[in-house]
Amino acid sequence: MKIRTADDVAISHAATILRAGALVVMPTETVYGLAGDATNPTAVARIYAAKGRPSFNPLISHILGVEDAARHAVLHPVARSLAERFWPGALTLVAPRRSDSAICELACAGLASVALRAPAHPVARSLIAAAGTPLAAPSANRSGRLSPTRAAHAAEDLGDAVELVLDAGACGLGLESTVVAVSEAGQVTLLRPGAIAREEIEKHVGLLAAPDARSAPSSPGMLESHYAPRARLVLDASTPVADGVHLGFGPGAASAALNLSPQGDLLEAAANLFAYLRKLDATGAPVISVSPIPQHGLGEAINDRLARAAVGR
Ligand code: TXA
Ligand code: MG
Repeated sequence: MKIRTADDVAISHAATILRAGALVVMPTETVYGLAGDATNPTAVARIYAAKGRPSFNPLISHILGVEDAARHAVLHPVARSLAERFWPGALTLVAPRRSDSAICELACAGLASVALRAPAHPVARSLIAAAGTPLAAPSANRSGRLSPTRAAHAAEDLGDAVELVLDAGACGLGLESTVVAVSEAGQVTLLRPGAIAREEIEKHVGLLAAPDARSAPSSPGMLESHYAPRARLVLDASTPVADGVHLGFGPGAASAALNLSPQGDLLEAAANLFAYLRKLDATGAPVISVSPIPQHGLGEAINDRLARAAVGR
């Protein structure tokens, strides 16, 4: 891991790293973000691994503006008007994800929604433009630690999980973005208070709804909109189930229809998880059996996600 002053040369080097699927710490006006290519599930799996998150929480994808956002989300006129008023800036919009969005499902934790923010920081903007792809970026701290407002904080916390830390000094706001959800019907809900005060947003769209059990960001896994296969899931299956298709893990699962990682690599398995579940579900088989997944590293998040998918809707 290297820390470099965020000049043009460093930014273009960072963009090359991002396009190769590796991670970079980037400054934003709120806090430093741990950035990876939001369209590359391997890069996104690396973000979860670096953060040490116990489950796949949905990540914010950073883009340049409302035109970009419209490629990934269904934007109600209210969402558009919030974007026009507060972007670039410290507002994150959660909106229904377009089925043709290039942002991978792992970045959205399998939810039917996507979180988008156009940051104002010039380094973040140059980096998004140079990488040519939306950048998934949670705050650049390990899970459970404070959000970093200086490059050195992020570097200390993340170590060699990132290739490069772009240093642009202290963050101006020092507080994460405000997260609001705008439904297809245009209802606006405050999901996380942040750098833009609730009152500022209410001046623009009227009173905000309080998050209900369905949209609570603290428990995204409980959302009904979470992807669950139509097929019944049988977990911890060492051998394929009759009438089913088998989702393998590791070298012992040679006869599986698909294998999350023949080498038993949990990062690779996380990157393949949502796409492979979908593919097997599309075969129409009544049952999908899944090999045991070890409960360490990203395995914990994979097992958490599988357990929720097994419960169904
Ligand atoms: O200021 C910020 O927002 C920073 C900088 C780097 O942009 N990023 C940040 O990301 O704080 P993170 O991952 O630490 O927080 C993302 C928040 C979480 O509360 C998450 O639950 C919520 O956004 N979120 C993301 N996608 C969501 C979705 N589809 N539905 C509901 N909540 C979502
Ligand atoms: Mg955070």
